[in-house]
Amino acid sequence: MMTETSKDNAKANTMWGGRFAAGPDAIMEAINASIGFDQRMAKQDIEGSRAHAAMLAAAGIITDTDAAAIREGLLTVLSEIEGGTFEFSTALEDIHMNVESRLKDLIGEPAGRLHTARSRNDQVALDFRMWVREQTDAAITGLQALMKALLTQAEAGADWVMPGFTHLQVAQPVTWGHHMMAYVEMFGRDMSRFADARKRMNLSPLGAAALAGTSFPIDRHMTAQALGFDAPAPNSLDAVADRDFALEYLAACSITAMHLSRFSEELVIWSSAQFRFVQLSDRFSTGSSIMPQKKNPDAAELIRAKIGRIMGAMVGLFTVMKGLPLTYSKDMQEDKEQVFDAADSLMLALAAMTGMVSDMNANVEELERAAATGFSTATDLADWLVRELGMPFREAHHVTGTLVALAEGKGCDLPDLSLDDMQGVHENINAGVFDVLGVHNSVASRTSYGGTAPSEVRKQIARWKEALK
Ligand code: ARG
Repeated sequence: MMTETSKDNAKANTMWGGRFAAGPDAIMEAINASIGFDQRMAKQDIEGSRAHAAMLAAAGIITDTDAAAIREGLLTVLSEIEGGTFEFSTALEDIHMNVESRLKDLIGEPAGRLHTARSRNDQVALDFRMWVREQTDAAITGLQALMKALLTQAEAGADWVMPGFTHLQVAQPVTWGHHMMAYVEMFGRDMSRFADARKRMNLSPLGAAALAGTSFPIDRHMTAQALGFDAPAPNSLDAVADRDFALEYLAACSITAMHLSRFSEELVIWSSAQFRFVQLSDRFSTGSSIMPQKKNPDAAELIRAKIGRIMGAMVGLFTVMKGLPLTYSKDMQEDKEQVFDAADSLMLALAAMTGMVSDMNANVEELERAAATGFSTATDLADWLVRELGMPFREAHHVTGTLVALAEGKGCDLPDLSLDDMQGVHENINAGVFDVLGVHNSVASRTSYGGTAPSEVRKQIARWKEALK
């Protein structure tokens, strides 16, 4: 809820207006205020302030009584915000001053001592870092859920045969399990990217103050520890100026969104009438208002599109940051909205993808039928010529190409050629060749490490199940 009291407007800002004779113009207030969005960091702001107050008391900078009043009062403020009764004011600019002002209403004079040895510059750096850290953890949890859904699909279809594509042309038969596990690898890397970024971001900027540190005997290690950081950030200028943590988070989000988008594209193709590889559930499809027969993969399409705003947020923040001199500039207030939007978009996309994957039904017969089209076992045939007839691979490739052309001319697939047809191209070919032309034999033979053979795929499934326990 946003209220605009004229009282707030008329007078100079009570937080910083000592040298001001008049309050800001309404337009100045509108462009300056961040409370419309940074209220999402209320929890982090209050947690940070509570830790700061406890530290100030422990260091003898404020009294224990004042610290207790501040810490207690801040909990009341938090419950007001969470309960929806807090009145946010644009005149008070941002979450930091809204909270502090309310604290003053509640506890009076001691509230004014909270901001000792601190600035909004280290405060906002702290709040935002904690907010991004929480989202980093949420992304990891969301990715884990998606990977588990993919593992369930992979296990069910470890030996279902489907076409593997290059150039979206049928290339070689692969297994459904193998295809699902390819995404488990991608999302696994995404997870580790978030985890890596988290390690680097986990240094506390609190106590850097405005930019130069402070003359008060603060204990930055104490607040860092209380707020779950590994250590305080070692350079106060950098602590205030750094937004790398948000950029790294957005980069990890963007790569994840790219993976989600590729998978979505496949689901859109696979669920089409031309492919019929999968059936998406009613829960994750929509109908058409004019064409009664339609069942559209809207969730997949929307996930496919989320990369636009997520990667847009990353480019946006890079652009905000790239020319800023040290340390803080108000430009940096423009760091938050896009990160918030990217986080919401990513979490929604992950949840929707997890739901779609859990619900989707593979059309096993159709997958197998498609796997056998497009001369998909031509490589198996060439490999057979090398293995059984001792042919150099280049010659085998050529002989196989001739056989493919022959089959194409006859309008049939490779296994439909007769032995006579085969021997017409190369006299030494024998009936044993037909064993390798079936799609099941083809996939079963690809037992190289990481290959599509069900035996190999099951090993990878087991490894990931263990890792995700
Ligand atoms: N609302 C501000 C932001 O988001 C807080 C920091 C303000 N600092 C300042 N020096 N004006 O960046």
